Amino acid sequence: MQHRGADDPLRVWVLGCSTGQEAYSLAMLFAEYSEHLPRMPRLQIFATDLNDVLLEKARHAFYPQTIAQDVTSDRLRRFFDEEEGGYRVNKTLRQQVVFARQNLMSDPPFSRMDLISCRNLLIYLEPGLQKKIMPAFHYALKPGGFLFLGASESISQFAALFTKQKIFSRKAGLTPLFHLPLPNERGTYPSSRQHAQTLDSAAAPDGVRGGGDAQREADRIMVNQFAPPGVLINAELQILQFRGVTSDYLEPPTGKASFDLLKMARQGWMLPLRAAINRAQRENKTVRRENVRVGQNGGTRAVNLQVIPLKNLKERCYLISFEEDHERRADHRQR
Ligand SMILES: C[S@@+](CC[C@H](N)C(=O)[O-])C[C@H]1O[C@@H](n2cnc3c(N)ncnc32)[C@H](O)[C@@H]1O
Repeated sequence: MQHRGADDPLRVWVLGCSTGQEAYSLAMLFAEYSEHLPRMPRLQIFATDLNDVLLEKARHAFYPQTIAQDVTSDRLRRFFDEEEGGYRVNKTLRQQVVFARQNLMSDPPFSRMDLISCRNLLIYLEPGLQKKIMPAFHYALKPGGFLFLGASESISQFAALFTKQKIFSRKAGLTPLFHLPLPNERGTYPSSRQHAQTLDSAAAPDGVRGGGDAQREADRIMVNQFAPPGVLINAELQILQFRGVTSDYLEPPTGKASFDLLKMARQGWMLPLRAAINRAQRENKTVRRENVRVGQNGGTRAVNLQVIPLKNLKERCYLISFEEDHERRADHRQR
C-alpha cells in the first residue's frame, strides 16, 4: 500500500459477501491503516454473492443496534450513522464497495486482484469442488496477491500456487487449467438458487425491495469494469455478446458488416486466436495463451488470451477474454 499511486487502486474481491459485514470491515481497516501513510491510496472493493436478497441487504448497509457488542464505540462513531433501530454504514465507506451477483461456480473470475477474501464459503462446498476452485483464485490474483480464507478453510494440495503466511500469497507462474461451470461430485451442476437458499434463507429487510432491474444493470456495468474485456462466441465463431471495451483487440472489418470473430481480430491475433479456439473445442478445456503480440498503431502489445468453453448450455459457446500482459510490461520497464 505504501508505494501505490493514485492511478493504482488496491483491488479487493470479497467472495460470498453475504450481507456485507466482511466487505465493510475491510474498508474500515483500510481507512484506519491509510491514516499513517503519506498519501492515501485508492481502494476498490468488489463484493459478490449469488444471493440477490443478501446483496440487497448488503447495499442497504443497515445493521441492528446489537452490533454495538462487536464494533468498538470509536468505529461506530467514525464509520456509521445512527438511525432509528440501528446503525447504517456511512456514505464514504459505502461508496468504496460495489456489490454484484456472481456465482463462483459458473461465472468467469475477475482478475488483477490484490486481495481475495473468501471466508466461510468453501466449507460449504464438497471437497472436490474446493480443490477445483483454487486455480481460479490463482488466476484472479496479481502475482504476490493475497488469498484470505476462513479459519477452518485451506488451500488443500495447492501449496505450489500459494505461499502460506497467516494468509496465502499467490506464487508466480502459470495458472493450471480450470473449467467453469464446475460440476459437483455427482456430475450435476450446482444451481445458484439452490445454493443460495440452503446457505442462507434470510429475507430482505423492510423497504429494500424493488429496483431489481436497475441494480442488475448497475451490477452488469460494474462486472464489466472489473472483469477483463472479452466476447461470447458460438461454435461458428460468431460474436454473440461484447463484454467490456474490446476495441484494443477487435475492430470492424472494412466492407460487409460482420460479427465473425476472426474477421474482427486486429493484426497478429487471427492465428493464435484460431489455434486457441480449435484446441478449446477439441479438448473441451480452458485454453490460455500468454504473451500474444497484437498490432496496434504501428506497434505491438503483449496480451494474454483465454478461451473458456461454457458447458451446461443448449448451444456450444465460448467465453474469450483478453488481457494486457502487465507482468511482461513491467519486465520490459525494469530492463
Ligand atoms: C456462510 S456465508 C459467509 C459470509 C461471509 N463471507 C462471512 O464469513 O461471514 C456464505 C456465503 O456464500 C454465498 N455463496 C454460496 N455459494 C456461492 C457461490 N457458488 N458463489 C457465490 N457465492 C456463494 C452464500 O450466498 C453466502 O452468502
